[in-house]
Amino acid sequence: MRELHDLNVSIAVEAAELARARRRVGVAVAASKSSLVDIVTEADREVERLVVERLRAARPDDGILGEEGTSIAGTSGLTWVIDPIDGTVNYLYDIPAYAVSIGLVEGDPDPATWQPLSGVVVNAASGERFEATRGGGATLDGRPIRVADAVPAATALVGTGFGYDAARRQRQAAIVQELIGSVRDIRRIGAAALDLANVASGRLNAYFEIGLQPWDFAAGALIVEEAGGSLHGWQGEAPGSRFLLAAHPQVAAEILELMAPLPVEGV
Ligand code: IPD
Repeated sequence: MRELHDLNVSIAVEAAELARARRRVGVAVAASKSSLVDIVTEADREVERLVVERLRAARPDDGILGEEGTSIAGTSGLTWVIDPIDGTVNYLYDIPAYAVSIGLVEGDPDPATWQPLSGVVVNAASGERFEATRGGGATLDGRPIRVADAVPAATALVGTGFGYDAARRQRQAAIVQELIGSVRDIRRIGAAALDLANVASGRLNAYFEIGLQPWDFAAGALIVEEAGGSLHGWQGEAPGSRFLLAAHPQVAAEILELMAPLPVEGV
């Protein structure tokens, strides 16, 4: 496990350096994906290519699932789940909240059943490195981190995010509109992997999002759990693409109660 995690760290750090170097030169939109605002830059593709190349060389039998199209079924039972640049819109605008996120999971590459083993999230702008191994705790730049102590929801700082489909994000915003009167405030930082890392290190009390992709949370979710946080899906489901909430367990319970009457299912 240590060896696999060290490999994860070294690839994520190298990938973050590449993303930062490309950002210095300047970034342009290469293409739109699911909608006009869902963009990919050449750097997203280049960083994914680098990560895949490194993984194929070191671990030829493992599967790889990447945001920018990589889908390789392995034979080892292990899959690397990559977001080469999470926070692509921040990256485009040079807002310093974009990250390389690499998770290693065991089992089918399905968040409902997989077992995360290693997670690394590197903020490519700041160089901050969040990491965790299953059962081994979570760290930020090598120092152990914990989620913030429990607070009442009324004083909780809650992160969230929005997808790229216009009608869907309006429904997501309607959920936030209901919640914002019951919590300290809302943050939309723009990179799910960093939102999760922020919960793990106590910079946010909670984070939730409806409609994440597996690569947005494969690494960050493990980091939250290893920092003493809990993860929740909607109404007892496994946390995942439909709904994911991460927080100190007591804060999570209160936020789930606040959200119970909201039309999350219709989002
Ligand atoms: C997005 C970011 C954003 C979240 C979206 C994600 P991308 O990922 O994590 O914060 O709200 O749901 O799709 O497109 O920047 O890799």
